[in-house]
Amino acid sequence: YAAVDVIRAKRDGAVLSDAQIDWVVDAYTRGLVAEEQMAALAMAIFLNGMSASETARWTRAMVRSGERLSLDVGRPTVDKHSTGGVGDKITLPLAPLVAACGAAVPQLSGRGLGHTGGTLDKLESIPGWRAQLSVDEVVAQLRSVGAVICAATSGLAPADRKLYALRDVTGTVESVPLIASSIMSKKIAEGASALVLDVKVGSGAFMKSLERARELASALVSIGVSHGLAVRALLTDMSVPLGRAVGNAVEVEESVEVLRGGGPADVVELTVALAREMLAAVGISADPAAVLASGEAYEVWARMIRAQGGDPSAPLARGAHRHVVVAEEDGYLTALDAYAVGVAAWRLGAGRARKEDPVQAGAGVLCLVKPGEPVSAGQPLLELYTDTPDAVAGALDALAGGYAVGEAPVPAGPLVISTVQ
Ligand code: URA
Repeated sequence: YAAVDVIRAKRDGAVLSDAQIDWVVDAYTRGLVAEEQMAALAMAIFLNGMSASETARWTRAMVRSGERLSLDVGRPTVDKHSTGGVGDKITLPLAPLVAACGAAVPQLSGRGLGHTGGTLDKLESIPGWRAQLSVDEVVAQLRSVGAVICAATSGLAPADRKLYALRDVTGTVESVPLIASSIMSKKIAEGASALVLDVKVGSGAFMKSLERARELASALVSIGVSHGLAVRALLTDMSVPLGRAVGNAVEVEESVEVLRGGGPADVVELTVALAREMLAAVGISADPAAVLASGEAYEVWARMIRAQGGDPSAPLARGAHRHVVVAEEDGYLTALDAYAVGVAAWRLGAGRARKEDPVQAGAGVLCLVKPGEPVSAGQPLLELYTDTPDAVAGALDALAGGYAVGEAPVPAGPLVISTVQ
């Protein structure tokens, strides 16, 4: 093949053949298709789409660009993937909870980019904790603890790593077939037998509308099914931050509260809902709500953190500088926009602008009041933490118009909107 023929075919709206897809993904991974050619092809796909069978084949080719783990660990393996949100620390309580219920949870995770947080950035606020594990260490920890949250090993879906970096700088990220194949190639290569997807909808999510989120969920599920994975998706609300903590160390603290049987109701609800789906997918009948209340999930958490060099009882960082936003009038909080809070936490130093940037463990936003709750004039609504006080002005700009106080509470929609399978 010549790359230019594949580009022309997709440019003109043709369906690519299996052989064309296999060739172009493999040749790109090996450096035989140039970056500018793949950029043109990604744009043609962005504009003209791919059919379900093209998307499945594209995903298969990306899985085959690297290794596929075989997780023979003596228990059924199940993983969760969230499309990303604000205050979405659910992986932290969920992985140990599902392990405490009897499954093995290999949770290969990423870092934050833009306004959404990254699981590894959050866990790295625990002194000593290590994200980078070898495949042998992952397997050993799944056997001994039942849960592992770590960075994806470099051999998994290298085609996606290259292509994602290219899409990021060529305006070709927001395409359903490209997003779906990117996510699923990594999850299939990871080798779990079942997968539950948390597809976020709303201002703080990738997909702002229910229609687009449904389209993404269906594409993800369809790829999983075509690869023999037991897969289901929940569509969940991301118009308001999850829980009260948005940042890194603050989200670890909130997750530990949940693991100790407390914590915000929405975080508990989503953790238990996803745990139920994961356990059902591998045929385990334990009741996750009861296991969470029993403290067993906390025990697994402490072992999981220790196994990766962390000290689960070490004090966590909190930004040296604090700024409090107060209510100007009496009433009820009627809005708290996930995107505004996510951008504020990001500007305070919890997130990064470029992949290489460091993050501040102690930066973030505490949402002291959530929509539906009463407030009185002068009451603190938000606490901003950072080590770089110059960042506060930018965070306050992001929050302007991002919350509102009204005379009557506005009824909240459901957190779990629907299931796709
Ligand atoms: N996350 C991914 O892993 N890939 C995408 O394309 C978008 C989000």
